[in-house]
Amino acid sequence: MQRGRLRVALIYGGRSAEHEVSLRSARSVFEAMDRAKYEPIPVLITKDGGWFKMRAHVSSFDQQTCPEEADRLIVSPDPMHKGFLISGNRGGHEPLSVDVVFPVLHGTYGEDGAVQGLLELANVPYVGCGVLASAVGMDKVLMKAAFIQAGLDVGPFFWFLRSQWRSDPEPILERIKRSNYPLFVKPANLGSSVGITRVEHEAAFEEAVDLAASFDRKLLVEDGIPGRELEVGVLGNDEPVASLPGEIVPQAKFYDYEEKYLRDTAQLAIPANLPSDVSQRTGEIAVRAFKAIDGSGLARVDMFLTPEGRLLVNEINTLPGFTSISMYPKLWEATGLPYSRLVDKLIELALERFRDKQETSTERKPA
Ligand SMILES: Nc1ncnc2c1ncn2[C@@H]1O[C@H](COP(=O)(O)OP(=O)(O)O)[C@@H](O)[C@H]1O
Ligand SMILES: [Mg+2]
Repeated sequence: MQRGRLRVALIYGGRSAEHEVSLRSARSVFEAMDRAKYEPIPVLITKDGGWFKMRAHVSSFDQQTCPEEADRLIVSPDPMHKGFLISGNRGGHEPLSVDVVFPVLHGTYGEDGAVQGLLELANVPYVGCGVLASAVGMDKVLMKAAFIQAGLDVGPFFWFLRSQWRSDPEPILERIKRSNYPLFVKPANLGSSVGITRVEHEAAFEEAVDLAASFDRKLLVEDGIPGRELEVGVLGNDEPVASLPGEIVPQAKFYDYEEKYLRDTAQLAIPANLPSDVSQRTGEIAVRAFKAIDGSGLARVDMFLTPEGRLLVNEINTLPGFTSISMYPKLWEATGLPYSRLVDKLIELALERFRDKQETSTERKPA
């Protein structure tokens, strides 16, 4: 690099239900970045999808802060611009080139490969998974297919399209008659539990499907898995490593999904209190899950430990919560990698992956 400091665009906010979480995650990253090494440039995506360059100041991560029209920004798909163009009201388009992009977005458009696709066209290095891994990691059906293919255990499930549910629900209703309750009904492509229902009995099934169908055209039904809920961090590119596992510990007498998400009373145990062989297995499984979707950079792999000692993979999150008190960074801290070094490492991995990609030819060379 010619410049002393790397210019790092932090993209945050976004058109997703997880906009607010993203503001908090991005603020933590911003605060942790070593100013001797990095020049952070906050880039806010508003809830209605506008992109803005923000001031390099913590206040840029407040919900109340309004972006300036003059700082409106677009990602340029032309690699010559190396990133962005300021398209505000000054007339013309000023380039804003960056060395690396750190998308600190969660959920739709940020975690599903859409933003990653833009950054591929722009030909700038970016932190985290590429287009394919992001998209597969967002779709609860396709991620399970990848896990099964890699020989990992997942719980029993089936899936169908909304259009099937609306035109011919009978086979689906027949199928759930033979199921054990509780069931979990989910939209395939959302995060943060939006649209998910824990269904206790057959009478509640239809309403649960209708709710999930309002969020996605693809739906899945899973058997409820009894047991403990563990989460493992994965970090790396072609040779990823796993953190120690953490656990989401229920506080009430019976632990359910409402407690975790609606009442927010669950706590994190980091590391999880587990025999060392089980702890080690969680790491092996997490790395295999990461490789199964062809991940890069980072991901958090969530799994259930059943009373019989089986580990079933629930899901992979390619842009997990990243506030300084979130599970993913806390897991790495417990494994010996403090938050700011984790940020360094992710940026290094982004640059490494970019260099690796530059070696890949996109044209057939003349003989
Ligand atoms: N099959 C299941 N069995 C038991 N609990 C589940 C199951 N699926 C989801 N849950 C509970 O619901 C939460 C949210 O579901 P999850 O599939 O992780 O969706 P999200 O992408 O919204 O995080 C899980 O963390 C877990 O507590
Ligand atoms: Mg989850």
